[in-house]
Amino acid sequence: MPDAPSSETIRQQFLDFFAAKDHEIVPSASLVPTGDSTLLFTNAGMNQFKDVFLGEGTRPYDRAVDTQKCLRVSGKHNDLEEVGHDTYHHTFFEMLGNWSFGDYFKVEAIRWAWELLTDVWGLDPERLYATVHEGDDALWLDADTEAADLWRSETAIPPKHILFEPSKENFWMMGDTGPCGPCSEIHVDLRSDAERAHTPGHSLVNADHPQVMEIWNLVFIQYNAQPDGSLQKLAQQHVDTGMGFERICAVLQGRSSTYDTDLFAPLLQAAADRSPRADVPGYDALGDLSPDAREKVRVALRVVADHIRTIAFAIADGVMPGNVGRGYVIRRILRRAVRYGYQTLALREPFLHTLVDPLVQKMGDAFEELAGQQDYIAQVIRSEEESFLQTLGTGLSFFERLTPYVHAAADGSADAVRDELADDAAAVDLLEKAYVDTDDRAAILDSFVATAAAGRLSGEIAFLLHDTYGFPIDLTQLMAREEGLAVDMDRYETLMDRQKARARSASTFSIDQSSADTWHEVSSGEASVFVGYDRLAVTDSAVRAVRTVTRDADDRFELELSVTPFYAESGGQVGDTGVLRVGDEEVKVLDTQRRGARIVHTVDALPDALDAPVEAMVDAERRRHTARHHTATHLLHAALRNTLGDHVQQKGSLVAPDRLRFDFSHFEGLTADELAAIEQHVNDAILRNIPKQEDRNVPIDDALERGAMALFGEKYGEEVRVITFDPDHSVELCGGTHVEATGEIGLFKFLSEGSVAAGVRRVEAVAGVPAQLHVDKQLAAYRQAQQQFKSLQQPLPDAIAALQEERDALAEQVETLHREQLAGRLDAIIDNAQTVDGIRVATGRVDGADMDDLQALGQQLRDRLGAGAVGVLGSDPGADGKVYVVATVADDLIQDGLKAGDLVGTLGQHLGGGGGGRPTLAAAGGRKPEALDDVLADVPALVQKQRA
Ligand code: ALA
Repeated sequence: MPDAPSSETIRQQFLDFFAAKDHEIVPSASLVPTGDSTLLFTNAGMNQFKDVFLGEGTRPYDRAVDTQKCLRVSGKHNDLEEVGHDTYHHTFFEMLGNWSFGDYFKVEAIRWAWELLTDVWGLDPERLYATVHEGDDALWLDADTEAADLWRSETAIPPKHILFEPSKENFWMMGDTGPCGPCSEIHVDLRSDAERAHTPGHSLVNADHPQVMEIWNLVFIQYNAQPDGSLQKLAQQHVDTGMGFERICAVLQGRSSTYDTDLFAPLLQAAADRSPRADVPGYDALGDLSPDAREKVRVALRVVADHIRTIAFAIADGVMPGNVGRGYVIRRILRRAVRYGYQTLALREPFLHTLVDPLVQKMGDAFEELAGQQDYIAQVIRSEEESFLQTLGTGLSFFERLTPYVHAAADGSADAVRDELADDAAAVDLLEKAYVDTDDRAAILDSFVATAAAGRLSGEIAFLLHDTYGFPIDLTQLMAREEGLAVDMDRYETLMDRQKARARSASTFSIDQSSADTWHEVSSGEASVFVGYDRLAVTDSAVRAVRTVTRDADDRFELELSVTPFYAESGGQVGDTGVLRVGDEEVKVLDTQRRGARIVHTVDALPDALDAPVEAMVDAERRRHTARHHTATHLLHAALRNTLGDHVQQKGSLVAPDRLRFDFSHFEGLTADELAAIEQHVNDAILRNIPKQEDRNVPIDDALERGAMALFGEKYGEEVRVITFDPDHSVELCGGTHVEATGEIGLFKFLSEGSVAAGVRRVEAVAGVPAQLHVDKQLAAYRQAQQQFKSLQQPLPDAIAALQEERDALAEQVETLHREQLAGRLDAIIDNAQTVDGIRVATGRVDGADMDDLQALGQQLRDRLGAGAVGVLGSDPGADGKVYVVATVADDLIQDGLKAGDLVGTLGQHLGGGGGGRPTLAAAGGRKPEALDDVLADVPALVQKQRA
């Protein structure tokens, strides 16, 4: 198709089509859902509108259109292990959607979908299918004949192309609970005419055929699914639609796979370009390869092209690769991509981060959060890649250490291998890491050797390689095959299943139980009106709703007011506390949180007279402390950017009455000088006493034009609040509470600086009264030290330095004395030397010597014994049940085959450990100090034996 529209055009056409039908174009919400604990990642366009559907929130429009970033990485929607292997699944995708909030319903939804697909985009009606819900007795729902009738009356779809389908396909639910309803899906048949003539398309709808696929889902939201599975009718009916953007691009660009569209082509090409393989010039240029090899490369390229989108967008929305929750999901995906690159594309150096650039070129215009953080995203990916490639290397050496034993066992000498292995402390260590089910070393060795005897590498090893070192199982298998070995796959699969079950339970968020506890509406009228920017107390409020939440047998009481001055936790600022006077009663407000549209006060008890007038009083002192920390946070943000550069982006923030915490993107630790400069910058702004300028209801575009700092990935409304402290100094979009002028902060001091994740630093600081207390405390400690050093008549740092010097000199003296004392014991040891077979053997204990001492003493002993002698010293250093030995062998005896390394090897084993070293001098450590005397007594016999 020479003039196929680009993905940019298609996206815009969709938005424009619905904008022309009075839909508000709204931006995509973040991939990280805000305020919804039931969801790991945003997985549908409707997530951000859930509150509107449930009647808990409103928007200034009742029709909307958008493209929503979505991630589906687990569950029935997508299985990560499949992505890349077929040509149409993705982890990250865009969902185009049009929405009606209690406005239009089925008629328009169906009519407009048809109009866009056939009139605007010119799709052939013969290739389109529409499914409708066939009804469901279990849900008490009749067939959606209304939708079927509308398809007939509103569109030109061939009547035979309207198919009734069961709930599994045509009843859409966001999750186990929440907004839901019957849906009508549009499928497209992209097969050739001949194929279509042979097999009718309707038989392939919903049959997972790569070329007969769903492109658009029109959901008629009417119910709220309850935890018990029943459906509660919603007050209004809504329309929620979702069109797979990548799929419609494939259709309109005449491609049979989403990977063949312009969305993926640059990424696939970039991945091929990075590969050092000469036979991989491009995704569609693999002619030099056999069909199997070609498919393998294409799978790897698809994996890389799919995953870089997921990883980059997730990081842009604030997810850091890590070990738990969302971060863990992203880390696994990233490693999966690196693995495929390493294994199939021969990419042994970090490469994934270099794909951020082509991705930004393709999508940066539509998604500013990507373009604006390009360097940061690339750096985070790079450091993840680097650390993973390190473990890949470690995993390889692990493999190499163990395979010789597998070979030997397979060759028939299992018992000997077992003994040899038992002596190889490093290999045993590795095995103990892999066999986590038991501490019994003998059982571990038996199991490993038994599997090895059959020519197989144990499942435990393969699993450890996968789980700890990130080795793909097929890489482990391939490496084993190259060695003529197999992998115990049954055991490996068992361990994988066990781990998958664990990961599933760790990565699925369960429904917050509190949502099951219902609110009791007490009175009607406006609710949750927040007046706390202007007032800290109101006298004329009323209780609107209450509920009791029981968790772990504890009751928590929650209360909603008509009007409240209490600030609900948001933007990092903690919720207010205070007091409610309800009639004659007084209850304490312990916390304030926002849940959907409600401002929820957690109280220590529910008042009896719920209908009495309410006086609500915020703890003003605490709020003032908090406000100082919030304004200080803005000044800090400005100071960081001023001092370190514009790459500094806020990554997280906590604003509390007693301190603040601020996470931001930056790649190195801050030096003392930088911290001092930043602190100074903030304190200068405090001294300037800059007045606050607060602007409410500023259109978002105006605010951004003023240069307001906005958070990438954060959802802002149409109108925002802008907090300015000097337009040239600090302008931020912010819903928090602030001081009237910076001078109120008084003082700002850092408490700590550190790293939270690759590329993210964290500082903690105090402002106002806590800052004064902090300084007082430091000064008090300093003064106390000064008192202690008073007699020294020197400035404190000099006094401390002098003291340190003195201490070091004394320590050295003590060390010398200690060594001399130990060396004194050598006289007796040399005097008591025995002679066996003409060799002088001197042994003895020098308890209290550590490993360094012992090595030095061993050297002295060797020098003093001279030719024809062996020396062995043992020490119980008196710490943690450890014991050390050192052995020395004279040069002339080495020629006869005696080696210090061999001697300590055996001695170490008897001491429950191991060791080694040069033939002249070697040392070992063990964990059985009680065996030392016997071990030393055996030395002469051992010398005889080793020499023989
Ligand atoms: N919410 C519907 C879906 O995700 C449109 O398929």
